[in-house]
Amino acid sequence: MTPGRSASGAPDLVIDIDPEYDLDPGFIDEWRRSPMCPRSGHLTFITGYHEGSQVLRSRSFRTNRFTAEGTNPVYVVVGDDRSVRFADPDADGNLPAGAVDWATVIAGGDTLSSLHGEPHRQRRRALSALFGRNSHQWYRETVIDPVIRRNLQAALDTAGADGVVRLDLVPFAHRLFVQLTAKLVGLDGVETAEGADDLAELFERMHASAGLTVPREGLTEKGMTDSLWARDEFKERYFDPSRAVRAELVARYERGELAEAELPRDYLTLVARGADTFDTEASVFNQTFPLFNGSTGTSTSMVLHTLDNLLTWFEQHPGDRARQNDPEFLQRALRETIRLQNPGLPAITRMAIEDVELPSGRRFAAGDVVNLLLPATNRDPSVFAEKADEFDLGRTVPSGVHDYALGFGGGVHMCPATPLVLGEGGISGTVVPAVAALLEAGIERDRPEGDVRRPAATDPFEPPLAVFPARLHRR
Ligand code: HEM
Repeated sequence: MTPGRSASGAPDLVIDIDPEYDLDPGFIDEWRRSPMCPRSGHLTFITGYHEGSQVLRSRSFRTNRFTAEGTNPVYVVVGDDRSVRFADPDADGNLPAGAVDWATVIAGGDTLSSLHGEPHRQRRRALSALFGRNSHQWYRETVIDPVIRRNLQAALDTAGADGVVRLDLVPFAHRLFVQLTAKLVGLDGVETAEGADDLAELFERMHASAGLTVPREGLTEKGMTDSLWARDEFKERYFDPSRAVRAELVARYERGELAEAELPRDYLTLVARGADTFDTEASVFNQTFPLFNGSTGTSTSMVLHTLDNLLTWFEQHPGDRARQNDPEFLQRALRETIRLQNPGLPAITRMAIEDVELPSGRRFAAGDVVNLLLPATNRDPSVFAEKADEFDLGRTVPSGVHDYALGFGGGVHMCPATPLVLGEGGISGTVVPAVAALLEAGIERDRPEGDVRRPAATDPFEPPLAVFPARLHRR
């Protein structure tokens, strides 16, 4: 147990972590500064796979993102001119008039991740149409394949006389998933590289002061104001016009001028068709962000890491090169990559809403916060065996355990896009087609491996790949 200390020096946060798990103290310090870390009370890091699953499945815990409960919120006041000012509590803990939690301002407190109980079920049901098989089929045919082909061709068209293209795969994959995700959400104006980059830049500006991940000392009033302005600009330039187009399409469908099959299967069309879960205009807008953010960074990172892992695997297992066109084989590589290189936040956070004892025997009191440390749960040697740290395409897992471990979470908040990402019923997901297309274009590293990556086994908290110099071949 590690007692924490407040600015006044009083111990106020007790941190519990399995002493056998060798967690870098720097990580705990960093987490302590995170807005997701409670100021006081009891915080437990869960490192075992089964205990992690038990927390996610238990009804005695709930998500506490964007709700300022069991976290360390930054309070602000937003002016009429949309400028953002800090609104710190006074010595007695009282907040100034109009103070609101910054994370809620920038991300909304009424999205799928933060809803509970019946409102959560209702929202999830409404959004499930987006991830169901019919939508998936539409998405595969009208979006995924054309967008991948268009981007790859544009890159190959820049090849020199030797037919070789040199590129950094990071911005390439990111633009690809900005365009793919925009189509899933229903945002127009991103078909060109410039449109996609403009949209990505707006999200980048919002992210620069994200209330969920940036600690208090990393925030400035100027930065927060700029993030809020970027959010407003996104609404005006992308969200409102795209929404109006869908309202008109649905009106034409209702007048019998369009067939149902001609309607897009995106989020904004779903809303225009009357999904009953959105009570306010703001809730429609707010839900856009987790759909967009939940998809772009994670999927980009998974394409990069899956390719990276596969290229190393082919060096070590040259006989498997022949399997690079086999979707099952690529699927396997993706699932193993999700287990090892968890692409989202390093921890899933929950708060106990009542006193509870897990089947493992561990007890929590109401208000306690738990962090499922994914790099630990997903490499739990008691489940994934001794070489749990290694990328192994021959791995078998015990029955009842996902081979991607807790990479998509679990329980009622499990990632609703899991079938869309991984593929289902013969429809390949979003990541494998991109990986397959790049392998087909003869992708290889453009520099020695050491420049690109550190092997997964050396550091479970590997940061996302920042540069991936690669060569493609026009054939
Ligand atoms: C490799 C890709 C992805 C990974 C690894 C991933 C991972 C996760 C994880 C771990 C959670 C659970 C968080 C928690 O319990 O607190 C989650 C939830 C969620 N994800 Fe994903 N995700 C991926 C792709 C996507 C995509 C493509 C979308 C949407 C287009 C998406 C939308 C969401 C949403 C809306 C939630 C909240 C669900 C709820 O609270 O009920 N994710 N994701």
